[in-house]
Formats: sequence, structure tokens, C-alpha cells
Amino acid sequence: MSVTKQQVLQGLAKVMSPRNVPLVDAGVLSEVVVNDGTVMLSINVDAAEVRDWEKVRAQADSAVRALPGVTSALIALTAERKAGAAAATAPPAARRPAPKGVPQGVPSVAGHRPAPPPHGSPMTRQAPIPGVGAIIAVASGKGGVGKSTTALNLALGLRDIGLKVGVLDADIYGPSMPKLTGIREKPRLTDAKKMIPIERFGLPIMSIGFLVEEDTPMIWRGPMVMSAITQMLRDVVWGSLDVMVVDMPPGTGDAQLTLAQAVPLKGAIIVSTPQDLALIDARRGLAMFTRVNVPVLGIVENMSYFQCPHCGTRSDIFGHGGARHEAEKLGVPFLGEVPLHMDIRATSDSGTPLVHSAPDSEHARIYRAIATRVAERLKQSAAG
Ligand SMILES: Nc1ncnc2c1ncn2[C@@H]1O[C@H](COP(=O)(O)OP(=O)(O)OP(=O)(O)O)[C@@H](O)[C@H]1O
Ligand SMILES: [Mg+2]
Repeated sequence: MSVTKQQVLQGLAKVMSPRNVPLVDAGVLSEVVVNDGTVMLSINVDAAEVRDWEKVRAQADSAVRALPGVTSALIALTAERKAGAAAATAPPAARRPAPKGVPQGVPSVAGHRPAPPPHGSPMTRQAPIPGVGAIIAVASGKGGVGKSTTALNLALGLRDIGLKVGVLDADIYGPSMPKLTGIREKPRLTDAKKMIPIERFGLPIMSIGFLVEEDTPMIWRGPMVMSAITQMLRDVVWGSLDVMVVDMPPGTGDAQLTLAQAVPLKGAIIVSTPQDLALIDARRGLAMFTRVNVPVLGIVENMSYFQCPHCGTRSDIFGHGGARHEAEKLGVPFLGEVPLHMDIRATSDSGTPLVHSAPDSEHARIYRAIATRVAERLKQSAAG
């Protein structure tokens, strides 16, 4: 039998807040969302007290996971800073020195102020994930340009050139991996209550979409996204991987910054369509990664040109070549062009990604060529 909200609250009754008030009475709990055996809630605290609360979060997490009927739990610590709060009141994590090479005092992109991850937690220290080699993010400033499609096919391309690859869907608001992979099952738990990613196409894959139903209200907001992502990175048995491909949500917000701050990202791949407007967003994405000292491995131009599914004729309806040009201008490698083609869309929509389902197709070759360039870049950066 699945656990109820009431049972979750009872299970939390013994957890005490730093002020020695029971957590459930401290006025900091969000609504408790229970979906089958998945329990999600957030603890909303003052940013200045985040450090003291991380212990409480961990205790709450253990208490919830220990309840019969709980298959997984995402207990997030959120630290919303009050609007207009001065930098001086920000928690220490926000004021820690910038990594080497990053100019001090650089404001975050587009006026967005990243809420820092809980200071003092192991998640804040860019600790590597044991067994995982390079972690790369597939990102863009703009939505709908084909990040998720590119991320999965790139992961399969990397698999085809002999690497052990995992996929993390970091899009908490709109996870794509259930649809792109056709995965409908929930991750099982180890004895230590860590989640086991779902294995498909030879890739371990994890997505919040495997834990919650599509129509579950998305309670993740702002800083809560951070905790969810760090848990998916660290409370999952990834095993030994050469590369973890992270499919990012659109934009330059919390998810990107969390990831850059929580794990040592080897690099980011920016996906853009050729139009000028998309390129402006791509530039923004690129600037964000540069500012948090994550190298940009290159740019992929998606929907680069239209290829007629019937006759194969190619037309450059979107002004093909914009991203290549932009990459040259910005001095970052150009990784390749993926055409707009029905087969790419159809295979994405049916959960049979093209590189896996049509490995000999021209498009699969394009993705593998991009994967090869990415692998070369990773090798170079490991050597350098
Ligand atoms: N090269 C392509 N040719 C045809 N269709 C494509 C191509 N790339 C992506 N698509 C389609 O475009 C839509 C958006 O792609 P996708 O979900 O990968 O974008 P996204 O950037 O991850 O979006 P979001 O910002 O919402 O996460 C999907 O329906 C996908 O099948
Ligand atoms: Mg996506």
C-alpha cells in the first residue's frame, strides 16, 4: 500500500528543527506531495540559516525513506532570499571566492540571482560523482530548439564509439526523457535506498519524469530545483561511466547554475537553431557557462536546414549556417549541423531515438560525427 500524506507527517514528527521545535511545527514545510510511493516536499528556510538546516533535511529524508510504502523521496531545502536582500545578507556560499579564472563580482546572467546551494552540504563542493568521468551539459538559452533530442542522440553516438554513457534529465519542470525513451517504469531502490537508474539502449537514464506522473502538480520552484538535481546526481547509483550527458532545461537559471556549482562539469554543449533570435539566446547560455568557469565544448546547429522527407532536397529555410558563423565569432568549436527532418521528430516522439533505431541512417551518422568531436574535445581537455 502506498504511503499517505498523514503518515509522512507522522514520520517527520520526531525530526527537530535547529530551534528545537519539531520540523512539522516550524512553519517551514511545503505541501507534501505523495504520488504512489514517491514523496516530495520542501523545507523553506531563511537563506542565512541554510547551513543549520541541511542536517534537518538529511534527517527528514531518512525519516521519510524509512516509512513503509515509500519507494523514493525528494526532500528539498529551499532558501529563498527576500527580494532586495543585500549581498551582505546572502549566505556564505554566495560569497565564496569565484573559482580561479572567473572574474570576481561578475553578476549572473540576465539579472538572475542564483540562490546558492546549501552551504556545508557535500553537494556544494563540486565533488565528483564516484565512478563518473566527464559530466557534460547540453543546453541552450531558448526552449524548444532540440536540446533533449540532441542530448539523447549524442549520448547514443558516444555509446556507439565505445564509451559508457549515462543520461540525466535535469529538466525538472518539463522532463523529456520519459517520452524520448518510452520509459514508463519507476526506478527501483537499493538497500541503502539509492535510486537505480533505468537502463535503456545500453544507457542508464534518470529523470524526474520517472518518479512523478505527467499531471502531478509541479511544486518545484526556484531553489527547490537545485536540491532535486543534486539528489538525482548523488542519490542515484550511476555505476561507472565515461560520460554523463545532462539534458538541461531551457534558459540560464537555477538548474544550470546548480549543476555548474554542484559538480565539476567538464563542459557544455550549446544547441541553437540558425535564426538570429535563437543565437542571441545561445550566446547568453554560452556566457553563463563561461562565467561559472565551465568550458563550452562547442555549438550544435539543430534544425539547420530542411530536408524534404520525400525527395531529400535540402532548403535553407532558416538561414542555415548562423550557428557556425556565431561559433567562429565567439571562438568556440562548431560541432555539426543536424537538419530538420521528419524522421528525427517521429523517432523522438515514439521513444525510439534515431541513433538507436536507425543506426545506419544519414542522421545517425551526423549525430555520431558530433559525438566523435565531443569525445575528441573531452580527450583534449583531459590531456590539457
Ligand atoms: N532536427 C530535428 N528535426 C525535426 N524535429 C526535431 C529536430 N530536433 C528536435 N525536433 C523536435 O522538436 C521538438 C522540440 O525538441 P526537444 O524537446 O528536443 O527540444 P528542447 O530544446 O529540449 O525543448 P525544451 O526547451 O522544451 O526542453 C520535439 O518535438 C522534437 O521531436
Ligand atoms: Mg528539453
